[in-house]
Amino acid sequence: MINDRLARIGDYPFDRLRALLDPLTPRSGDEAISFALGEPQHPSPPLVREAIEDSAHLWGRYPPVWGTPAFRGTVAAWLKKRYRLPDGMIDPETDVIPVSGTREALFMIALTVVPEAVRGRRPAVLMPNPFYQVYLGAAALSGADPVFVPATAETNFLPEFAALDADVLGRTALAYFCTPANPQGTVATIPQMTALIELAREHGFVVVFDECYSEIYTGETPPPGGLEAAAALGGSLDNVLVFQSLSKRSSVPGLRSGFVAGDAEILAAFKRVRDYGGAPPPLPLLAAATALWGDENHVERNRALYRQKFDMAESALGNRLGFFRPDGGFYMWLDVGDGEAAAAKLWQEAALRVMPGVYLAHAPADGGRNPGAGYIRCALVHDIETTGRALERLRNTL
Ligand SMILES: Cc1ncc(COP(=O)(O)O)c(C=O)c1O
Repeated sequence: MINDRLARIGDYPFDRLRALLDPLTPRSGDEAISFALGEPQHPSPPLVREAIEDSAHLWGRYPPVWGTPAFRGTVAAWLKKRYRLPDGMIDPETDVIPVSGTREALFMIALTVVPEAVRGRRPAVLMPNPFYQVYLGAAALSGADPVFVPATAETNFLPEFAALDADVLGRTALAYFCTPANPQGTVATIPQMTALIELAREHGFVVVFDECYSEIYTGETPPPGGLEAAAALGGSLDNVLVFQSLSKRSSVPGLRSGFVAGDAEILAAFKRVRDYGGAPPPLPLLAAATALWGDENHVERNRALYRQKFDMAESALGNRLGFFRPDGGFYMWLDVGDGEAAAAKLWQEAALRVMPGVYLAHAPADGGRNPGAGYIRCALVHDIETTGRALERLRNTL
């Protein structure tokens, strides 16, 4: 009775984490703190509540799949300013669609673009390894072969899709590319992204830039994005989609709000899929999202908090546990030798939950070591005080 493709994906990382930690009891009486989940806990901006209250009369309406002109226009203006795009590159009528968080959209895009066969062969979906687990679920459940491309310290934590052999590239339908990367925080350069877009156009696949961490960064210059790379190649959106979310930028993971922008032809097909199976964002929530994309003050405050927490992490850990300050995002990706053992120890001895990297990556087909096995991922999502306590426990325990 169950779709047998489900057997091709393992249990979700958080279920695996529960299976690892729930049988263990923390020995310390400290309250539990979780660094495991990338769920921002900074206060949500007041304009969310205001916008929802102001549009309460819209709860009685089914939301249109394309959202509202106000939302699309605000997003197009944000993209133009943020990535210095040429006038008219993003048409708010056809090139932007709202989604109820990018998780569902990253999943549904595979149902939209993965065909039965590519040049007579089984389609492939490329993803970095380690990776956001939704990419695997989407690839497997859309009937494609997931192809795990190493994103390890040797490749500066980004996947080198161009190094794949012609056989794989020739049957690729879709490539997921995350910048700043989850879990390692690497930011791709414009030349890396233009090369990927050119590769996608040469082989006829879709490239998805997953950019939900783009507004949380360390340096003075914001991370470049896929649309900026498309602009550098002349401004065509062919084969290119960018996924953006308010969950991290605006600390509202519960709002379930994001958008997809890019190739109008793919978005029209995506809209058709969503007509049948999508849950478009409710209009009052879309009004809140419109207000958030139109405001940068709360984003700057948010970014400053993350910088402060990485300063704290840097002084707590120095160069221990392979600590490095990521270019973007809010994760520490710590090299602890055996991530599962470290996670169990931190829970038992310090009531601190962290995510073993092994659950975020896939062992290579040749039987080599899972590239996440040596690591733990720690999400610096709490307030300053809680983060300080958690960092102290981490340092003292490991
Ligand atoms: C890499 C990456 N992409 C997408 C998402 C999905 O975010 P949301 O569904 O909240 O937009 C996450 C959430 O943690 C993520 O880490």
